[in-house]
Amino acid sequence: MSLLELDNVDTYYGQIHILQGLSIRIEPGELVCLLGGNASGKSTTLKTILGIVRPRTGMVRIEGEDVTKRPTSYRIGRGLAIVPENRRLFAPMTVLENLEMGAYLRGGGAKEDFERVYELFPLLHERRAQLAGTLSGGEQQMVAMGRALMSRPKLLLMDEPSMGLAPILVEKNFEIIEQVHQSGVAILVVEQNANVSLSIADRGYVLSTGRLVLEGKAADLRENEDLRKAYLGR
Ligand SMILES: Nc1ncnc2c1ncn2[C@@H]1O[C@H](COP(=O)(O)OP(=O)(O)O)[C@@H](O)[C@H]1O
Ligand SMILES: [Mg+2]
Repeated sequence: MSLLELDNVDTYYGQIHILQGLSIRIEPGELVCLLGGNASGKSTTLKTILGIVRPRTGMVRIEGEDVTKRPTSYRIGRGLAIVPENRRLFAPMTVLENLEMGAYLRGGGAKEDFERVYELFPLLHERRAQLAGTLSGGEQQMVAMGRALMSRPKLLLMDEPSMGLAPILVEKNFEIIEQVHQSGVAILVVEQNANVSLSIADRGYVLSTGRLVLEGKAADLRENEDLRKAYLGR
């Protein structure tokens, strides 16, 4: 059974038709990327998965359960977590307090949740008393991922983790994503940067103005001529 399915989803903002018959699935433990240019509907896809917007038609399923009419809080309880665009840390709060917020819906983090996050990111333990807003970009990314992992998600959703980062930090960032993936969490990463996404993903989808135009194994997509021309600059 798939961990997450979008089944023939149509999402609108008012009269504007954004996602058009979109179907994607993510299996347990997979790392999947959803690629697309600016305004192609990537964030809207994440919002549809989380229930921040509701599709007009089509279905969202988590482990086979239809959650299309369920609120965001319910879906988070079913194992979804998000690392939002630009990370959106609580800058005037400490690293520890940011992590604590990640377990807010459960009434706070358990000792083993902190331990798991600190094991993945030892630096966050060292910096636990530092204000999040004073960390470097790469360190802030660790806090954002650590915060999301505090809720013990089955599926981590990531909105453009490479955005606004220097190339060297993008590489580092994706190493961190791969590391989290290897710890057993499924990840859907939404990106404009096809190169780095396909280098760590199992599978990929390509979105263009709200429609899927390509999908397949990451290795095959890397060799795809159309994709190379459109996104990989080769
Ligand atoms: N709240 C909104 N109301 C109306 N239009 C929106 C809203 N959010 C996004 N859009 C439009 O939907 C399209 C897709 O946006 P988005 O999903 O954010 O794209 P991406 O994340 O791929 O850049 C864009 O044309 C954008 O302007
Ligand atoms: Mg976006």
